[in-house]
Amino acid sequence: MEFIDLKSQYRAYQTEIDRRIRTVLEHGRFILGPEIAELEAALADYVGVRHCITVASGTDALEIALRALEIGPGDEVITVPFTWISTAEAIALVGARPVFVDIEPVSYNIDLDRLEAAITPRTRALLPVSLFGQMPDYDRINAIAARHGLPVIEDAAQSFGATRHGRRSCGVTTIGSTSFFPAKPLGCYGDGGALFTNDDALADKMRAIRTHGGLQRHHHPLLGMNGRFDTLQAAVLLAKLPHFDAELERRRQLGARYTERLRPLLHLPHAVPEVLDGNTHVYAQYTIRVPNRDTVAQRLQAEGIPTAVYYPKCLHEQPVFASLGYRWGDFPVAERASREVLSLPMHPFLTEADQDRVIDALARALTAENSS
Ligand SMILES: Cc1ncc(COP(=O)(O)O)c(C=O)c1O
Repeated sequence: MEFIDLKSQYRAYQTEIDRRIRTVLEHGRFILGPEIAELEAALADYVGVRHCITVASGTDALEIALRALEIGPGDEVITVPFTWISTAEAIALVGARPVFVDIEPVSYNIDLDRLEAAITPRTRALLPVSLFGQMPDYDRINAIAARHGLPVIEDAAQSFGATRHGRRSCGVTTIGSTSFFPAKPLGCYGDGGALFTNDDALADKMRAIRTHGGLQRHHHPLLGMNGRFDTLQAAVLLAKLPHFDAELERRRQLGARYTERLRPLLHLPHAVPEVLDGNTHVYAQYTIRVPNRDTVAQRLQAEGIPTAVYYPKCLHEQPVFASLGYRWGDFPVAERASREVLSLPMHPFLTEADQDRVIDALARALTAENSS
């Protein structure tokens, strides 16, 4: 069994993917070829914003967003300690300081009751993450940001396609940032990402930073980077996009089925994912909480069930962020999550029979744990 089965997905859309790739090989415009503009228009339309700027990765996307907002040394950006390294890495890469706010235990997203207290005169942006595939309450986040005159960047690397009160992830904040890493809900066949905004000036700036700081050849008003998305990867996404909503529906069905069957087996608080009111969840990860997580994972592995841990350590535990001066105990909800979470196989091509194998193996692993 695969944790995320990209081969079945390829077989299902092979004709269209191959045709799209062949078209690029034939026209030969590999850098910012016509598929890039076509994809950016399709994605902006899908999200419901004016601008989409595709980039080389979700990490580059975050860095470009922060640079476009002119955030740098001496500035603080508020985010969470329970996320992939990129979120805080991008803040540090532009020379600013990541300021962590603990998560809340239900959705694993930023604790909105603690957010405002973390704002200081140095705060220049809020960078919440829509972890595992559902969004925090951006109405509340945007209201807090507005009170303090701050922009909001959504790290939507895991939530592309999710909605909150009918509005799509990536389209509800100053800038939305996502990733097309192969395992993401909308994944390409390499690295990739995109930025979304309704702000025309920011869009131009992000587009320029992506391409060495200028929109015209040999004219570089800004300090930029080579952060372009590959045309071949855009071709792959154009082939996958028409199937995306059906995939999200299948993810929702499988997520609900896991939850219904696992709830009676699991006893830790918030052990199964809960979908917040008004949200749809895309289950980039289907993440549960189990006691003795590492031995449970080993027992599953022994039965041929792959699992993953997102994330075994919080960012304030990472050596690279030791200089921020945080200590164990500063973020108890995130710390506890990092020791309890376990992600199960989840992708739109998971069969119910395979899902039952996961559930049965997990039930056996938990029984074995209880009696050991
Ligand atoms: C929450 C989060 N932010 C940022 C990223 C960075 O994306 P990428 O791997 O495309 O650089 C990822 C994915 O890896 C992620 O999960």
